[in-house]
Amino acid sequence: VDLSHANTLRLPCVAERYAAPRTLNQLQSVLAQANRLGWAVTLLGGGSNVLLPARLSGIVIRPAFAQWWLKAEGNQLFAHVGAGVNWHRLVMELAAAGLWGTENLALIPGDCGAAPVQNIGAYGVELADVIEAVQVVDRSSGHVRWLNRDACQFGYRDSIFKGALAENVVISQLVLRLSRLPMAKLGYGDLASRLPESPTPLAVANAVCAIRREKLPDPEELANAGSFFKNPFVTDQVADELRQQYPDMPCFPQGDGRTKLAAGWLIDQCGLKGFRQGAFAVHQRQALVLVHFGGGNRQGLLALARTVSEKVAARFGVTLTPEPRLITG
Ligand code: EPU
Repeated sequence: VDLSHANTLRLPCVAERYAAPRTLNQLQSVLAQANRLGWAVTLLGGGSNVLLPARLSGIVIRPAFAQWWLKAEGNQLFAHVGAGVNWHRLVMELAAAGLWGTENLALIPGDCGAAPVQNIGAYGVELADVIEAVQVVDRSSGHVRWLNRDACQFGYRDSIFKGALAENVVISQLVLRLSRLPMAKLGYGDLASRLPESPTPLAVANAVCAIRREKLPDPEELANAGSFFKNPFVTDQVADELRQQYPDMPCFPQGDGRTKLAAGWLIDQCGLKGFRQGAFAVHQRQALVLVHFGGGNRQGLLALARTVSEKVAARFGVTLTPEPRLITG
């Protein structure tokens, strides 16, 4: 099965087998079959945050549970969302329904089931802020269980689904906590200046879409996986020293002795915007994004990533790590 169009970086990849179960029962029987026949299992969502190898043996499973519904419990409102629902479509439907919670996360590509894995975040909101629980299916037993938010161990672009549970479960459903009461979070960047005094969730979502469209390339037009590097954390002391040398450097103190730096700014300062190496380049408008013009493979992309991180390390002494997940065959 050709997965070159099933990943937004358009990296060439051929999988030995592929399944897109639509129900829990179907997922459980695919997992049982894989266990019985000793197939390696690779999970895939929208393919917008993965670095795929040229070949994947065993079976690739993309959960395709496409339903979502709202449930009121007392004064609270929850959305139950199947793993295969498109994240951006969900955000826009919730916002259009006047429900607050996910509007800052508009236009993030990918499936809902993948959202908890890296705790998607943008414009001052992370999935961890709105998630109530995650339903998972055990890969070896097929048992279904729920993890509450704390059990998910969310961090910056991180969760238990990248750590202890990385090889053990399939995410099948999310429960999100929503609000009918206005709770706009407009503190990040120039979001507030683009909006009226008391915006609707739909207005916020649309403003976020507009900002993202200005900076981030549409993967349909130019292959990419969003931010290619995580924003690095350094000690407050290192940040202070860098700040003396570079007074304009964006800094986000975390209040725990660490400061988050803007990887895009560091790369930009090295003069790398638009820098091309083979089939890949640093995006013209947002240096944190690497783009693929076509005809390249994962090695080529990792070569450009190395060039970029070496230049940043040489100039700032800061180490960058890739954000998309390296999938092994
Ligand atoms: N900057 C530059 N040059 C650049 C890029 C950024 O100077 O080429 C500066 C900006 O001017 C700003 C700072 O760096 O002062 C931060 O830039 P921006 O607000 O664009 O956000 P970011 O830190 O580069 C992160 C997330 C994005 C998310 C935005 C908005 C990560 C790795 N990336 O990017 O998430 O959309 O904040 O919240 O945390 C993604 O993960 O794929 C992603 C797109």
